[in-house]
Amino acid sequence: MTTAVHFYDHEPTEAYSLSMREDILKGLRGRPKVSSPKYLYDQYGSVLFEEICRQPEYYLSRTEEAILASVVDEIGELAGEQLSLIDIGSGASRKIRLLLEQMSISNYLGVDISRDFLIESTSKLATDYPWLNVHAICADFSKRIPFPVELTDGRIVAFFPGSSIGNFTPAEASAFLAGIYHALPPGSALLIGVDLIKDPSTLEAAYNDAAGITALFNLNLLTRLETELDAQLDSGRFFHRAFFNEKHSRIEMHLVSTVEQVVAIAGETFQFREGESIHTENSYKYSIEGFQTLAQRSGFTCRKVWTDGCGYFSVHYLEHQG
Ligand code: AVI
Repeated sequence: MTTAVHFYDHEPTEAYSLSMREDILKGLRGRPKVSSPKYLYDQYGSVLFEEICRQPEYYLSRTEEAILASVVDEIGELAGEQLSLIDIGSGASRKIRLLLEQMSISNYLGVDISRDFLIESTSKLATDYPWLNVHAICADFSKRIPFPVELTDGRIVAFFPGSSIGNFTPAEASAFLAGIYHALPPGSALLIGVDLIKDPSTLEAAYNDAAGITALFNLNLLTRLETELDAQLDSGRFFHRAFFNEKHSRIEMHLVSTVEQVVAIAGETFQFREGESIHTENSYKYSIEGFQTLAQRSGFTCRKVWTDGCGYFSVHYLEHQG
């Protein structure tokens, strides 16, 4: 990596592997079998997610990007000057370029669990924006985010795009927002993208793209289990399934067993019935009012919300008024 990036490692690989092992085994021992969506993001999973964002059916990213492009001046006015921008789950940091180019940002902090991907993307930012003070933290943002003290005394805008908030349950989302609220000083803001409830066919198409990239993204979890947890399994005996659960207002993603089988993972065996699945991800969809209620309960003041013409996606500017 270039020396221009200040790197902080809050998830040393060995400790993370150990907790992933425990977490996965615990999830597979339960009924239904579950796995946290965060395990979809190793290096290859992060690359596949970027590819998902380019699929025609996956409207989320491009709609959010179009909203941001059309209101970035307004965001800049609300946020003010000489900002520190904290990019939570920074991934390939593409949307951030829009903000960096149009707003007055002096410090950038990328937070992501996918270490190599984080280093690569923040190094690119440091090269492309030499005036920017670039920091990177390898951390699991579903736990507490350890903000470096040198960034917490100016004006801060935290950025949580892509509707990643939807990958938490509403209770987890509320705790996550409250955690951010308490970690930020008064005067800060959170700019957050939230996918909206819409007709199920549009939602389901977004998670079942014709090119099969979402299926590969989901199935990559099994490859991770094989390479990192010594799993003995045939990934051809599972298929990707995603559907909208109206009752819970969420897309559910599953890996479904095509046959009755026994799978060994980290020395432990797991029985699967034919049709039994591992529930690998939820992606909750909100109404604007529903999300604002959640944000207010976590302490934030809802200053502004923008949507696209179809009402597919929303971007919220939440303030920490102290
Ligand atoms: C990152 N997150 C908001 C994506 C979503 O839409 O829930 C992850 C994803 N899963 C399948 N496709 C994309």
